[in-house]
Order: sequence, then C-alpha cells, then structure tokens
Amino acid sequence: MRITPSILNADFANLQSEIERIPSSDAIHVDVMDNHFVPNLTIGLPVVESLRKVTDKMLDMHLMIADPDRWAPAYAEAGAESVTFHVEAAAAPIRLAREIRAQGARASMGLKPATPVEPYADMLDELDMLLIMTVEPGFGGQKFLDLCLPKIKRARELMGDRQIWLQVDGGVSEQTIERCVDAGADTFVAGSAVFKADDPDAMVNTLRDKAIA
Ligand code: DX5
Ligand code: ZN
Repeated sequence: MRITPSILNADFANLQSEIERIPSSDAIHVDVMDNHFVPNLTIGLPVVESLRKVTDKMLDMHLMIADPDRWAPAYAEAGAESVTFHVEAAAAPIRLAREIRAQGARASMGLKPATPVEPYADMLDELDMLLIMTVEPGFGGQKFLDLCLPKIKRARELMGDRQIWLQVDGGVSEQTIERCVDAGADTFVAGSAVFKADDPDAMVNTLRDKAIA
C-alpha cells in the first residue's frame, strides 16, 4: 500500500518545504497540466528538474497533457522514477511506454473516468502502473466518483498475478480510501485530503493505516 500525496494543493511558492511536511509519504505525485488536455495549467519540466535536486523521494509524474509522446520521456530523463501519460492523449501508447522504460523509469498509463480498461488488457505487460482517475482530471478537491469502482476491480482482475501497481487518483480521503482498497487498488493519490489537513504527515499515516486495515 503506497500513499502518494499530490502537491497540486500545496503552496507552489514553497514546494521544497511542502514536500518536507510529508516525510512518511511513499512518493510525491506531481500533476502536470497544459490547458489543452485539461482546462488548467500547472508546472512543467523546469520545476521537476528543480524538485529532483531537493528531494530523494520518488517523483510520480502525472502528465495531463496533449502530445505525451513528445514530452513524457523527458520527465524520465529529468529523474522522475515514474511517468504516467494518458491513453486518451497518446498517439502510440505502447511505443511511449517502452520509451519511458528505456529511460529507466516506471511506465504508467492513466484512464479518465469514462475510459474503459478492457481495450488495454493486452498491453498491461508494457506497464508498471495503471492510474485510474476517480474524478475528471484538472482540479483538486473534487468529489470521488463511485462509478469508477467497478473499473478498478476489473483492472485488478485483468492484471492477474502481474506485479503492476494500481493507482487511484481523485477524491481519495479517509472516507473513500477503503472503497478503493476493496476494489483492488494499492497506490493512492491524495491531494486536498493531505495538504488541507492540519498535520499532513499524520494524514498520510492515517490513510495508510486505513488502506492496510
Ligand atoms: C486531478 C489530479 C489529482 C489531484 C487530486 O486532476 O490528477 O492528482 O491533485 O486531488 P484530490 O485528492 O484533492 O482530489
Ligand atoms: Zn494526479
């Protein structure tokens, strides 16, 4: 069970100190948005290169961008250990996953809430992680979509005994994490739940405890 807090709801003027507030986290989830794939704009490569210099934590990149075929390998090259591209945006997802792995990073593919998992069953061997969005991507603080739970369950079935991480992202909190665990997820992004908590690190541990229970 891995808790990967999203810094989308952190203070962007002080990212280094924000990361230092969550020493118990398993990774730092970094949301890259380009105002094309999603209607919001965040950060890009230069910020990730700077983050790499100030933390040894695993950088878990979530690229919500058009044309990931062009950009995703560069995030791996910048030192991110995991790079998620969205299948809805990728022109050649298999080639892209291979390029990310060739850069030494974990290759991961993201699915928006309305994107089914079945069509991608045959390419699971190309992936180290599958990210299932449980809100429409673009903003933190949205309500968890229960209608995604059957897809999480289906994804876990399709993975069989492969060692692929199954990540959920969007609306994950103390109230919703157990539903995700029951469906088969093992890696949890939490943005507002962690960074709006009085003690973000305590919340990371609370979420992990709930996931393990
Ligand atoms: C949304 C991002 C999420 C976001 C989650 O598009 O991909 O990672 O930060 O925030 P919460 O946990 O508040 O839903
Ligand atoms: Zn995300």
